[in-house]
Amino acid sequence: MRSADCVVAGCRELLTCAGGLPKRRAALRDVGLIENGWVAASKGEIVFVGTEEEYRNEVVPDADAVTVDATGLVGLPGFVDAHTHLPFAGDRAREFGLRLQGWTYQQLAERGMGIQTTVKATRAASLDDLLKLSLARLDRMLLTGTTTVEAKSGYGLNLEDEVKQLEVLRDLAALHPVDVVPTFMGAHDVPPEYRDDREGYIALLVDSIVPEVSSRGLAEFFDIFCEPGVFSAPETRRLAEAAKAVGFGLKVHADEFVSQGGAELAAELGAVSAEHLIAVSEQGIARLGASDTAAILLPGVPFFLMLDKRAPARRLIDAGAVVALASDFNPGSSHLSSMPFVLQLGVFTLGLTVEEAVNSCTANAAYAIRRHASVGSLEPGKKMDLVLCDIPGYVSLAYEPARNPVRTVVKNGKVVVADGRKAGAR
Ligand code: NIG
Ligand code: FE
Repeated sequence: MRSADCVVAGCRELLTCAGGLPKRRAALRDVGLIENGWVAASKGEIVFVGTEEEYRNEVVPDADAVTVDATGLVGLPGFVDAHTHLPFAGDRAREFGLRLQGWTYQQLAERGMGIQTTVKATRAASLDDLLKLSLARLDRMLLTGTTTVEAKSGYGLNLEDEVKQLEVLRDLAALHPVDVVPTFMGAHDVPPEYRDDREGYIALLVDSIVPEVSSRGLAEFFDIFCEPGVFSAPETRRLAEAAKAVGFGLKVHADEFVSQGGAELAAELGAVSAEHLIAVSEQGIARLGASDTAAILLPGVPFFLMLDKRAPARRLIDAGAVVALASDFNPGSSHLSSMPFVLQLGVFTLGLTVEEAVNSCTANAAYAIRRHASVGSLEPGKKMDLVLCDIPGYVSLAYEPARNPVRTVVKNGKVVVADGRKAGAR
């Protein structure tokens, strides 16, 4: 018999997303469905997942255990948002207006707007300003079921302001239940003061900023925007090697608009993930399929930028790639953070099945940020991070686009969202 201090009782359908990781091809369609599913945890860690009968035979809840009645609800692992640009200041609503008048995202960038607008605002913001903004965003994410989020710096583009963004991510841990996985993205763009000296900025990153950020222990991954007009393939290789040499895991914004072999390079360099992939080449698809480099697809971007092109999700799955979905929450190219909406976009715009989309937002997303030992699926030994949705069956996760079906969120074995509201909040 196992004891438990938190029990989620009687989910109409429980999607465990458990099983061999990462999930490729047909395995991506297995959501580990249990009808009348029960989950029990002790001290934040799952100790039991199974049917009611198994529960009654195997678990004895503590006298003061919290029991969440999940009758009629669909339970699944808390969402893992594997790609966001969380700690930024300012907004780009005016530039959004310009886009609606016909300007493209790239035209704005070429005229010193885009990422540079946000760099100015983020440099001008204090750590405290950024902390407040990020906390409010994490609250919104939590209400839509996100329990773990990867977050990138990349709007500082100098040591001081990159460190400021990363310190915000560190400080969030003590202030908010959502787990934050920090990525240093000093290679998001070339800052304005180095416009005429790209080599100078790359050398500064390689020789000084990358090792310094590593020595401060503020980030786990290093991410590079590998795209014509931002960082070329040879520049990406150089930056990646410098980052790997000081112990960073590698992530690459690859083939977002135009392919310059970013996916191939990410696979060759053993990157943890290649992200975007709207313009990935044939060879890039094959290389990712044969690798452990996750393909993080961001369907919010073509939606928000109103592009006709999409990442070739089906072809990536058929090639054997580890497909994950994420929001890319940022002020310019994907100003959205709801994982249910991302899941729905995965179904409606990338042609995923609901099962594939669920695993891509949970188990494979955890793999894509190397958190699969602790989150992304419901199985003994992992964290009790679970959402309950008010829908008649899991297919309805996608059946009503733009609806947030999340009613309850359990994080680390504590109820943090109840009845659609942050617990404790009125
Ligand atoms: O993932 N591609 C580069 N970075 C972000 C956009 C950032 C921005 O526009 O501020 C992205 O799309
Ligand atoms: Fe991004």
